Amino acid sequence: MTKEDIKAQVRQAFDHRVSIRVYNDKDITREDMEYILDMAWLSPSSIGLEPWRFVVLDRKAIAKIADDLKPASWGAGSQLDTASHFVLLLAEKKVRYDSQAVKDSLYRKGLSEDMIASRLLRYEDFQKNHKKMADDERLLWEWAAKQTYIALGNMMTADSFIGIDSCPIEGFHDDEVNDVLVKHGLIDPDKEKLASMVSFGYRANDPKHKRIRKDRSAVVTWVD
Ligand SMILES: Cc1cc2nc3c(=O)[nH]c(=O)nc-3n(C[C@H](O)[C@H](O)[C@H](O)COP(=O)(O)O)c2cc1C
Repeated sequence: MTKEDIKAQVRQAFDHRVSIRVYNDKDITREDMEYILDMAWLSPSSIGLEPWRFVVLDRKAIAKIADDLKPASWGAGSQLDTASHFVLLLAEKKVRYDSQAVKDSLYRKGLSEDMIASRLLRYEDFQKNHKKMADDERLLWEWAAKQTYIALGNMMTADSFIGIDSCPIEGFHDDEVNDVLVKHGLIDPDKEKLASMVSFGYRANDPKHKRIRKDRSAVVTWVD
């Protein structure tokens, strides 16, 4: 396959991907879902922190939680009714430079104790002075949540390559939805919070509207 063939295939996958909110009753296979989840797992994250967890619900699991979720998730109604699978993207809460999560990310890299100490100093400077988030739990969580959106994008591209449809979802009331997830034993509220969800399935119908985007020239700027 030539580079041009690969580019055409990638473009075709991007053209196929639109947010699909109503799915038919075909189930995605476990194997295909694992392929999609691999792309979340392998996604990059700032300082290699991987401050996330991906909770996968199949049609049966969605049915158990849908009635509780719907009142708090205005953006997920028809997806909860029809999707084959949902993935909940959870972002970790305790990601300060002195947290175990940050230390573990360095141990994973197999660095020496000296290297770890110097990296931790750099992360402290980064969080305290460069990003001014170290003393704000909300900003720290949002930093973790930002990383999950990379995994979200990668899953949606991966699924499109194999003809599976999806819809990213953040149209929900944060506190209410997190309460539902705690009630169903799906998240640990001390450790993590829902950043977004994504539904997967096969489209019931082709979209009625053409894709809408700003002019490319308005968003792409070349500097000579
Ligand atoms: C982070 C994010 C959150 C979104 N949340 C919702 C949502 O809650 N419900 C929904 O139906 N669509 C949601 N969307 C889909 C957008 O409306 C959609 O991506 C946008 O209109 C562009 O259309 P397209 O995805 O078909 O290209 C979301 C998209 C993104 C990227």
